[in-house]
Order: sequence, then C-alpha cells, then structure tokens
Amino acid sequence: MQTLPQENHVELIWPAEGVTRVPYQVFFDPAIYQLEQKKLFRGRIWNYAALEAELPEPGDFKTTFVGDTPIVVTRDQEGGLHGFVNRCAHRGALVCRELRGNRATHVCVYHQWSYDLKGNLIGVPFRKGIDGKGGYATDFTPSQHSLHKLNVDTYRGLIFVSFAEEVEPLAEYIGPTMRPWLDKVFQRPVQVLGYARQLINGNWKLYAENVRDPYHGSLLHLFSATFGLARSSQGGGTLMDEFGRHDILHAHKRTEAQETAAYTNESLRSYQAKYTLADPSLLKARQEFPDDITTSIHTIFPCLVVQRISNTLAARQFLPKGPDKFELIFTFLSYQDDDVEMRDIRRKQANLVGPAGFISLEDGHAIELVQQAIVRDREGCSFLEMGGRAVASQDNLVTETAIRGFWQYYRKLMGFN
Ligand code: FES
Ligand SMILES: [Fe+2]
Repeated sequence: MQTLPQENHVELIWPAEGVTRVPYQVFFDPAIYQLEQKKLFRGRIWNYAALEAELPEPGDFKTTFVGDTPIVVTRDQEGGLHGFVNRCAHRGALVCRELRGNRATHVCVYHQWSYDLKGNLIGVPFRKGIDGKGGYATDFTPSQHSLHKLNVDTYRGLIFVSFAEEVEPLAEYIGPTMRPWLDKVFQRPVQVLGYARQLINGNWKLYAENVRDPYHGSLLHLFSATFGLARSSQGGGTLMDEFGRHDILHAHKRTEAQETAAYTNESLRSYQAKYTLADPSLLKARQEFPDDITTSIHTIFPCLVVQRISNTLAARQFLPKGPDKFELIFTFLSYQDDDVEMRDIRRKQANLVGPAGFISLEDGHAIELVQQAIVRDREGCSFLEMGGRAVASQDNLVTETAIRGFWQYYRKLMGFN
C-alpha cells in the first residue's frame, strides 16, 4: 500500500544563500505539492480564472482550476459573476464537464442535483421519496448544500477567485507597479481569438521561473534573436512589485547596429545574419501603442501571464497537474474594435507563441530537460545569481532578479525560511 504524504509535514532545508539557490526538491516532492495546494493556492491570494470576454452573456460559464481544484465561473441573469468549486455537494462528482458553455442551471449527471448560476442547490430528485418511502428526512435543508462558493473580483476584465474569505482587494493585490501595464493592454474591450493548450512534463514553478527569465530569451529562442524579435542586448528591464511576486519584463526597440554589436562581441550562436524569412509577413507588425516597447510580459502570481509580444495579446494560465506536470493554456485576444487587417496580423503572429510557437516551443522542452535531470538529487539546487543576488527591479535583460523575487514570495507563503 502506498503511504500518502502528510499535508503539513515537509522536510526541506533551504540553502543558506537564500533566494539565489533553489533546492531541486521543490520541483518534485509530492509533500511540497500538497502543501502548495493548501498554503498557496487556497491561501490569501487571488488566482486568475477567466476573462470577462469569455463570459459575455447571462448563463455563460467556464471551467478551470485553482491549483488542482476544479472550479466553475458563471455569469448570472443579472450579469453578476460567481465562482465555485466544481464538485457536487451530494457525493462529490464534477458538476460541469465542459470547458465552456451556456446554461440556465447546472445539473450533476450522477443523481441530477441541480444548482442555479450562483451555485445554490435548487433541485433534488426524489427528495421526498416515492409513495412515502425513501427520500430525505424532513430536516433536509437545500441551502446547506450549495456548491462551495469562492470570492470573486475583477480587474480590467480579468476575473480572479480566492478561497480566502479575508484577502486584500484585487486591485491592491495586483498593485500600483503592475496596474498601469494592465491598464494599457486592457485599455479597450477585448474578445477571444482562440486558444492553444499543451501539457508539459515539468513542475509548474519551472514555468513561473521561465516567464520571469529574460536571460534565456534570446539564447534559447534562436528564432527570436535571428530575426530580431527579442535580444538581450535590447533596451529593457524587469520591474517588480514590493513583494517580488509580480513582474513586468519589458524590451524596447534599439538600432540594428547596437544589437548586432552586442551579439557578435560575445560570438553567440544565436545571431546569424545570413538567415532571412521566406515570408517576412509573419513579423510585419503595426505600431499600436504610443511607446517603443516590442515585448512586455506581465506575470501575476501565481499562475497568470499577460503577454504583449509584437501585436500578439494573450493571457497565459499555467495549471499544476501533479508535482511533475502542468497544463499551459494560451488565450489569444484582439480588441473588439480591431479592423480586419489588425485581426489578421494578430492571428498570424499567434504562430510566435503557443505549443509550436516560433519563440516559445523551446520553453516547454527546456523545462522538461530540467525536470528530467533533477529528480534524483533532493539536496542539489539551482544557481540564480545573474544580475546580482538581490531582489530589485533592474534596467537590463541579463538578470534573474525577478526569479529571485518569485522565490522570495513563495518561501514567505510556504513558510520555507
Ligand atoms: S454526486 Fe452529484 S447528484 Fe449525486
Ligand atoms: Fe522563453
């Protein structure tokens, strides 16, 4: 018989160097995974769940997860938003079995208990039995058997939920550093262009590191550097909130000569001037914001990334599926008032990211390379000293400071000191 790890019992010694070292154990220990579900995902934080644009009409719903707990987000007849655990109050079956849809009520398939759009129990078959036999006792009270309701809040069309009853308002959680960046991306109403989903055989925190890591961008992603989309030699930086939990990674245009010099000086394999695209229309971008930013990646703890890469706008959500697996979901966006050409540009550029994206397909593989190599050595640890040892915003792209920020906040929530 297999012994299940105890929820609160984790033996972990974090190296004395602090956030510049990450013990490999956190990426595969089942006990740590269990503790994360409780202390982190169900703790006093907000978890991204959906976009309002995915639930425009009354009755619309979307199923997703907080950590690995299945949840549903719904829009009621009055336009209000609700979130609840997707688990029947009778015997625990999943109530909603589709990714998205529209329903007036949610009916569990097992014994057909039905719930309204706010998660209240409204129907129980054979509640009074048949011919005076069977059924529930007279003190059965439907209001005591609602679905488990979650706290819900929105910011600029992003819907977040929280298991915690007492949690700071969402706008404060997002914080003054991040808010203006989200305000810019969500300046006008958006609509969904499409989705891409992939399963990656690695721990979810390796992705949390990856999206805070400008160091790898132009080295791992040859396409990016070769065709001038993103290079570490660009102007840019990494901007964190006061806790180090959220991060904005931003890159700006620089002249071709400055960029080429930075690469050829280091003789990096990633700069190869002889290559050109047979169809350069893929990279034909249109200036749409009054700034010189080519890429900004907004990472909101724990599992949301809002990306602006050239003209692609997307929300990325990564969901743990066990200690060594996570699902990555891209939701591609356009503005509702985009013209036809702009929508086509965004669709074409969607090829840059997603499971087979020209500048992101390597990320999943790099994460799997790490997961495969670390599993045997709990005591080993990774080394995070690029750009110094501190946790502080920096005005360059050769730094791991935002990854250190993530670990600083993670350790605080998990009590790993
Ligand atoms: S488990 Fe849902 S109705 Fe029985
Ligand atoms: Fe990457």
